[in-house]
Amino acid sequence: MKEHERPDFDSRAAQWDNLPRRVALGNAIVEAIKQETDPQVWMKMLDYGCGTGLVTFGLQPLVKEVIAVDSSRGMLDQLELKAREAGITNLATVFIDLDNEWHLPDGIDLLVSSMTMHHVPEVAPLLAHFRECMNTGGLLCIADLETEDGSFHDDAAACIPHRGFAVTEMEQFFRVAGFKNVRTVRVMSVQKERDGKLHEYPVNLTVGSV
Ligand SMILES: C[S@@+](CC[C@H](N)C(=O)[O-])C[C@H]1O[C@@H](n2cnc3c(N)ncnc32)[C@H](O)[C@@H]1O
Repeated sequence: MKEHERPDFDSRAAQWDNLPRRVALGNAIVEAIKQETDPQVWMKMLDYGCGTGLVTFGLQPLVKEVIAVDSSRGMLDQLELKAREAGITNLATVFIDLDNEWHLPDGIDLLVSSMTMHHVPEVAPLLAHFRECMNTGGLLCIADLETEDGSFHDDAAACIPHRGFAVTEMEQFFRVAGFKNVRTVRVMSVQKERDGKLHEYPVNLTVGSV
């Protein structure tokens, strides 16, 4: 996808945390990851598509080191501001330029990603790269929408590569990339009003190990 076709996260970054629904989803994803993986103080964690850190900061106190990765400089600016204000010292950010070649840092014990995978055009090669960057015994946690009808995003014109993922589809991505012990739990359902009715958008967490 070219730059002009991608959703503009930079311009939304400063207001991103103002929506209680987003904060609630981030908190629910943090709780599900804690329950499924039991993060440890020796772990090096990477949050891929970290945004403003709604999930990152829920896990950061539990691990040794955090690398927060995003393709939006605006989102990373917000995350860095929050880290500075909170005096957090075990966190580094990495900006990735999707129009050029990039690699993630290696030696990762816990790799998490929340509500980002549906924005990634090619999921299979990304999960293969995740695995290359992870230590033996490392855990991958991906939280994302269950298959939806395309109405989740408020901006109908936004170019979103995936309308969520069926559980079997996401688990297959994990297995093909070489992850073991793959399992999925339901995190919660996001409710949004569509055509005067409440529409439910379930969010799942899939976990696998290296
Ligand atoms: C819906 S937001 C989720 C942010 C955060 N993980 C959360 O749960 O609040 C998606 C994030 O992924 C980033 N993003 C979109 N496409 C990406 C890609 N291909 N690689 C890395 N990050 C991406 C966006 O900049 C944005 O910060």
